[in-house]
Amino acid sequence: MITLSVIKADIGGYVGHSSSHPAILEQAREGLEVARKDGLLADFRVLACGDDLQLIMTHEQGEDNERIHKLSWDIFEAGTELAKKLKLYGAGQDLLSDTFSGNVKGMGPGVAEMAFEERPSEPIIIFMADKTSAGAWNFPLYKMFADPFNTIGLVIAPVMHSGFAFEIHDVKEHKKITLNTPSEIYDLLVFLGAPSRYAVKSVYHRETNEIAAVSSTQRLSFIAGRYVGKDDPVCVVRAQNQFPAVGEVLEPFTLPFIVEGWMRGSHHGPLMPVAFNDANPSRFDGPPRVIAAGFQIANGQLVGPRDMFDDPGFDEARRHANDIAYYMRHHGPFEPHRLPLDEMEYTTMPQVMVKLADRFTDI
Ligand code: 13P
Ligand code: 13P
Ligand code: MG
Ligand code: MG
Repeated sequence: MITLSVIKADIGGYVGHSSSHPAILEQAREGLEVARKDGLLADFRVLACGDDLQLIMTHEQGEDNERIHKLSWDIFEAGTELAKKLKLYGAGQDLLSDTFSGNVKGMGPGVAEMAFEERPSEPIIIFMADKTSAGAWNFPLYKMFADPFNTIGLVIAPVMHSGFAFEIHDVKEHKKITLNTPSEIYDLLVFLGAPSRYAVKSVYHRETNEIAAVSSTQRLSFIAGRYVGKDDPVCVVRAQNQFPAVGEVLEPFTLPFIVEGWMRGSHHGPLMPVAFNDANPSRFDGPPRVIAAGFQIANGQLVGPRDMFDDPGFDEARRHANDIAYYMRHHGPFEPHRLPLDEMEYTTMPQVMVKLADRFTDI
């Protein structure tokens, strides 16, 4: 069994919230290299999407392992120290606790982990997004694993014909439910279509119960009780054979679908699929970005990454995303560009209401 852990945090932006400083990435690589030499990690890569630092690690310690989580926490803390020296913006933004207590879940960093037996060939895609939140994967995961208009394999590949099971998390009430496709897609879409509340945690191959996809689902604002930046989620998807082909996994991103995030985490806007080098959202701190790192895993080694959206095939999606971004921006502070009121609870909105409370009179 090999475990793939993707653990990420925003520990400081360069410049503002737009990108990550190269020195932070370099220091994280040095830290993980020590853990690899010590034998804790089989392999690792350090990437960034916007201002989010991404630790991609393979190991044999299983999911939710204290040593792996502690390693990540230490890297984020050391990174925060460096970010403070460089006075990067929002140094330590996602470290919501002072002390590590066994697991980084609920402490700010995002976590997506899966343990599996390596297949004869193990292609995986790691999606990383900035300026958006956990439910952003609902739409593409549905398309990949349940929509035959996206994934022809559901129709013509016998090993996929029995469908997939979706584990959905209610991020407010901390409850979960598993629904099967294709038999329960109408029930499933009731929840998936409400991504600010319900997020797909994982997807399983129904016949074999093998893990197919896993995502990070924490909502930072629900942990902190106030606005502390968006969650900027990650998602790991296994591809080919009993799972969707690589091209079927990437295809949903040809539509720059609308997500929550963007400026001050308080807007709706299109999710733009970009190459690694273009994941520096600066237009109104956006529009929201997603990158896709492709790997072949070979005996625990990460062969890659390939920059999967670095393909002219996604140029139209990027152009379309810019058109939508211009259209949305013209609405300024008006909904539905601005998030609905219940989502503004975690911004300055409550303070404005307190200030004006005694100026409201009955009508
Ligand atoms: P192969 O015939 O190379 O396996 O390709 C099938 C496929 O997955 C194409 O999307
Ligand atoms: P991040 O969540 O990426 O830090 O962005 C916060 C923000 O306020 C952008 O305007
Ligand atoms: Mg930030
Ligand atoms: Mg971010």
